Amino acid sequence: MDATVGKFEETGDILIIPVFKGVEKAPNNTTTGLSRGASIAVKAAAASEALTGKRGELLHVWTKGCMVVFYGVGKSSTQTHKAARDAGAKCLTKLSKNHGTDVVVRFTSGWKLEAMAAFAEGMILRDYAFDKYQNQSSSTKKNKAEKGPWKLTCQASSRHLEKLSDAIERRAAIATGVHLARDLGNEPANKLYPEEYGIRALAWAKGKDNVEVDVWDYERLHSEKMEGVIAVGKGSIHKPCMVFFRLNPRAQSDEKVPCIVGKGITFDTGGISLKAGAKMDEMKFDMHGSATVFGLFQGLHATGYEGRVNGITCMAENMPSAEAYRPGDVIDTYSGKTIEVLNTDAEGRNVLADGLWKAGELNPSYIIDLATLTGACVVALGHEASGLWSNDDGLRERIQQAGESEDEIAWPMPLMPAFEKEMTGSKIADVRNLGTARWGGANTAAAFLKQFVQECEGEDGEMSQIPWAHLDIAGTAWGAKTNATVAHGATGVHVRTLHRLITSN
Ligand code: BES
Ligand code: MN
Ligand code: ZN
Repeated sequence: MDATVGKFEETGDILIIPVFKGVEKAPNNTTTGLSRGASIAVKAAAASEALTGKRGELLHVWTKGCMVVFYGVGKSSTQTHKAARDAGAKCLTKLSKNHGTDVVVRFTSGWKLEAMAAFAEGMILRDYAFDKYQNQSSSTKKNKAEKGPWKLTCQASSRHLEKLSDAIERRAAIATGVHLARDLGNEPANKLYPEEYGIRALAWAKGKDNVEVDVWDYERLHSEKMEGVIAVGKGSIHKPCMVFFRLNPRAQSDEKVPCIVGKGITFDTGGISLKAGAKMDEMKFDMHGSATVFGLFQGLHATGYEGRVNGITCMAENMPSAEAYRPGDVIDTYSGKTIEVLNTDAEGRNVLADGLWKAGELNPSYIIDLATLTGACVVALGHEASGLWSNDDGLRERIQQAGESEDEIAWPMPLMPAFEKEMTGSKIADVRNLGTARWGGANTAAAFLKQFVQECEGEDGEMSQIPWAHLDIAGTAWGAKTNATVAHGATGVHVRTLHRLITSN
């Protein structure tokens, strides 16, 4: 989608007037650009009882050359960024290209800058389809090819235009990162496997002078002794790799900067501890942590962020085979700590053990990992929120707030010593990869990860753990029926949260 702003002038093929509850007549500027006859018809429709401004209400008025749509968004007093974003997203789903592609959204009386930007953002985020493998059946795809992308013009009073233009341009740039994360998440596992992810990351970096991507292939993983990633990935013909992202590598050279780590299991069969068949296809999304990291770097780059940021994605395919790792195995991880494997399906934590330890070597200001880590997190929070664990109250609050602002809720969950004790109670290794019972499975997983966060020296000379947060996105990476910004499939969750977090400090 092409999004720009403009004055109340042209009407486009489709003219959308979002109106608040209680609207009694056509707001000022509604009919600018329409013929006299059309104006009269539109004003009459607006004044009728058919228009109340109730949320989701649609009133179409057909005029020559332009379809005018009044779109109810509910009470003006309760216009939150979420309501406006959702309204924009839902509005897009109501449009059909049969009436043209030149869409004008006219923000008349009562619209505030933030809400207008959020409405436009909702439309932009929702304008996404993963149809690259539909050669025959997709009419939307055919339509898109024939008629081209939507052209959106947001019209507002001239005092808002400059700021609105900046805001929309920025939101659109971030959305390219969200859409990239969705693209990666939606790719089937036979098309996107670890090496392919590495190839795409290298291709993305090519020609961008302020980004670097490095891929550690299977051989390099061996020479670096990254046994956590190796153990999980060795059962597949598609061997594992680690991918390193660096934005502005030469900036802030004497400062600590964030490092974002992603779980990238391109398919999770469970391995030798094989999963049941139902919905196993969804395990192609098990690399969404790595998709979010990639999308985040795209979003940061597209918005011209000048700070330095590191990213690490741990890529592997978890397959059962003669070469696969087994329950009972002991892994010598990159950290030097050993893991007793009690279930090969608890694989995300094994790869993250290496990724987190590596992140600690980069002397980061903080580490955040994202992982579709546990079914237990979906049991706890459903599809409405990601689980958020942190060893640092300030970091936890900042992530929570950034998530709230973007309507990507991250809900605080407990890191408790008892869970750590449970996970460090192996009889034969340092850490076990399974709790002693099912209970609190998302918490024991977080407690496991904490064992691989390094310490650093604070200003007072004391050693303490690097500020770290873990986001379990098992419920939010796909499957939320209530997420208006996405039709189905991968959501691109937390690209916007992390973009806000990183760029607002
Ligand atoms: N990728 C899964 C977690 C998952 C399951 C995400 C369903 C989204 C939907 C993870 O690797 C896994 O299999 N976790 C196990 C852990 C268990 C063996 C301790 C789980 O949640 O059952
Ligand atoms: Mn698993
Ligand atoms: Zn998994």
